[in-house]
Amino acid sequence: MEYIVVNGQKVLKGRVSISGAKNSAVAILAASIASGGTCLIDNLPQIEDVTSMVAAMQAMGVKCEFTDTNTLRVNPTEMTSYTFDERLAKNMRASYYFMGALLGRYKQAEIPLPGGCDLGARPIDYHLKGFTALGAKCIQEHGFVKLQADKLKGANIYLDSPSVGATINIMMAAVFAEGVTLIENAAKEPHVVDVANFLNKLGAKIGGAGTATIRILGVPKLTGGDYTVLPDPIEAGTYMIAAAITGGDVTVENIIPKHMDSVTAKLKEMGCNITEGGDWIHVCGSEVLRSCEIKTAFYPGFPTDLQPQMATLLCKAQGTSTVTENVFDSRFRYVSELKRLGAQIKVEGRMAVTKGSCVFTGAEVAATDLRAGAALIIAGLCAKGETVIGELYHLDRGYERFEEKFRSLGADIKRIKRDE
Ligand code: EPZ
Repeated sequence: MEYIVVNGQKVLKGRVSISGAKNSAVAILAASIASGGTCLIDNLPQIEDVTSMVAAMQAMGVKCEFTDTNTLRVNPTEMTSYTFDERLAKNMRASYYFMGALLGRYKQAEIPLPGGCDLGARPIDYHLKGFTALGAKCIQEHGFVKLQADKLKGANIYLDSPSVGATINIMMAAVFAEGVTLIENAAKEPHVVDVANFLNKLGAKIGGAGTATIRILGVPKLTGGDYTVLPDPIEAGTYMIAAAITGGDVTVENIIPKHMDSVTAKLKEMGCNITEGGDWIHVCGSEVLRSCEIKTAFYPGFPTDLQPQMATLLCKAQGTSTVTENVFDSRFRYVSELKRLGAQIKVEGRMAVTKGSCVFTGAEVAATDLRAGAALIIAGLCAKGETVIGELYHLDRGYERFEEKFRSLGADIKRIKRDE
């Protein structure tokens, strides 16, 4: 088994370059199998979710070749199957994106129900409602979703809540639907825009991505094309918060500062000194951090994927803070592990209340999901003594070269192997 060992209380200083966005990369990889030719996708993060998506694509007969660590050539023109083994889907949620891509391009799909982080109920009813509205038959059996359509016809689809996955999945299927499809109450996340830009590069006709109403005019087929995945706002926010909690002085590079507005605003409210340029943000932590209230929301609100990391930072702030999780049913499982490091935090329903002024002390802890793992490392960075974090497979799904990047900022962090 592998563990990350952190010797805390080192101040982070220096520059860190952000990788491609996990949640954009996995959707663009799925969308690429709907292309009519070869695609060259670069700035892919070197993470397990990308590896798993590529394995699923290859299982369907898609030709995939990494031309370098972060660049993949995809050729789906000789696909042999519209399904893959459910073991390839059990650890990640993004496999559901193959539903929209296959249904759109090939009018059929047989995809395992998704796995992924345990954040409470993670239904896909909005996805299936959208596919049905476009004319597909949807059957759920033996842990698979089976989709079939003689043809797809444009429709007006209203999402009960701005689901990122449903917005992207329905958009991918609608690319090939005859006529116009409107997705209303659509998600506005940057990676929704990234997937729309990629599909438009291949000849799709998608307008309004990034707003609450996305309009797709169906096309008979797509071409191939080249594309660069956008920088990961969640990875960037993780390093910004790590800089703040260690009182550090860190420049986060190769990002789109606009995507970080909610995080920047909250760190400033807590007393950090933040400046930004065209593709970078500089964070100067403050000795004294002020408490504040966090309420997660769909973009451009505060991202749920930075909720555990921000809650950890708030444990260090002076005074009581509150963190309200409005997106997922159960995203506080990390709190029990954080308490092992000394956090004084209480969860009441959708709200966690932190007492503040916590002095973290190192201990053995385990990641309960991807972003919980990041939060535990952030706590370890400022804890007295040694923190050992297990269950690293969660972290490896979504952070490229995590300990290497922290080491380059001065953290005393390493990965070890240990027999159980
Ligand atoms: C995507 O998950 C991301 N995952 C999540 O990132 C992210 O937290 C989430 O969007 C919100 O930004 C990927 O992109 C692979 P949703 P997704 O559909 O698509 C409910 C990470 O750490 N809902 O926006 O599953 C759902 O239960 C991961 O990188 C339905 O009710 O999120 C949830 O409460 C974690 N029915 C809410 O909507 C549906 O059909 C938001 O879900 C779909 C969703």
